[in-house]
Amino acid sequence: MKINENTLLEGNKVVLVPYNAEHVPRYHEWMKSPELQQLTASEPLTLEQEYDMQRSWREDDDKCTFIILDKQRWADSRVDEEQCMVGDVNIFLTDPTDPTLAELEIMIAEPGHRGKGIGKEVTRMMMSYGVAKLGVQKFEAKIGLNNKVSIAMFKKLHFQEVSVCQVFREVTLRATVDESVRATLLEDFAHVEERDYGQTRSGRRGHVSRRGAQKTSSCGAEPPSLS
Ligand SMILES: CC(C)(COP(=O)(O)OP(=O)(O)OC[C@H]1O[C@@H](n2cnc3c(N)ncnc32)[C@H](O)[C@@H]1OP(=O)(O)O)[C@@H](O)C(=O)NCCC(=O)NCCS
Repeated sequence: MKINENTLLEGNKVVLVPYNAEHVPRYHEWMKSPELQQLTASEPLTLEQEYDMQRSWREDDDKCTFIILDKQRWADSRVDEEQCMVGDVNIFLTDPTDPTLAELEIMIAEPGHRGKGIGKEVTRMMMSYGVAKLGVQKFEAKIGLNNKVSIAMFKKLHFQEVSVCQVFREVTLRATVDESVRATLLEDFAHVEERDYGQTRSGRRGHVSRRGAQKTSSCGAEPPSLS
């Protein structure tokens, strides 16, 4: 989807940025993990296929995706954005006849970042974004029956079981956005800061080179003012 191609969302623990080609190598490394393949019901892709997938998430009108960054790490402008990546979150408009229905997927790929409230925060942020920007009214999550953590998280977020498919060993959970849920989500979204991704990214890079400039002039000369 093009709608979020220049959107950065800053929450409490995370920053969400659009999925770009530069993120693909790290993403591809993550998806080599048999555990993640199993938990997300994904097939391993070649690097080339992963680039194709990234392009399709960007171009197709029915898919919206963000990369999840660790905000604390990202706040240090010396750290490359790719080094801040911890996972991804997607909305997929599954029914062409009903654009208000969306499937939501989330993955905290870095094990050290799980169990710290990131999954819950990101899911809420993505639901709020879906409601406010895409007009979503119903969210579904399809989760492997063995994925107890994910099932527990979506139930905490008021998703309810609608069906179980024994063939695929998967449960479908659903949350309908009525007026009160909508109000809560939009209230949740109030603390989220939305910014221009391109500008913020080049600001971070500029900051790095400013530090570089200060360092090279440490033999005595005052660095020039760059503001
Ligand atoms: C499932 C996943 C998204 C949850 O994100 P997370 O950041 O680890 O979860 P949070 O810390 O936000 O916790 C959210 C809820 O999940 C449940 N949960 C988290 N860790 C748990 C654990 N170790 N055991 C049981 N329940 C757990 C709890 O209900 C928790 O709510 P609470 O803290 O209010 O009790 C994440 O673990 C993940 O991506 N795992 C690997 C890939 C995956 O399974 N993706 C989902 C595919 S459908």
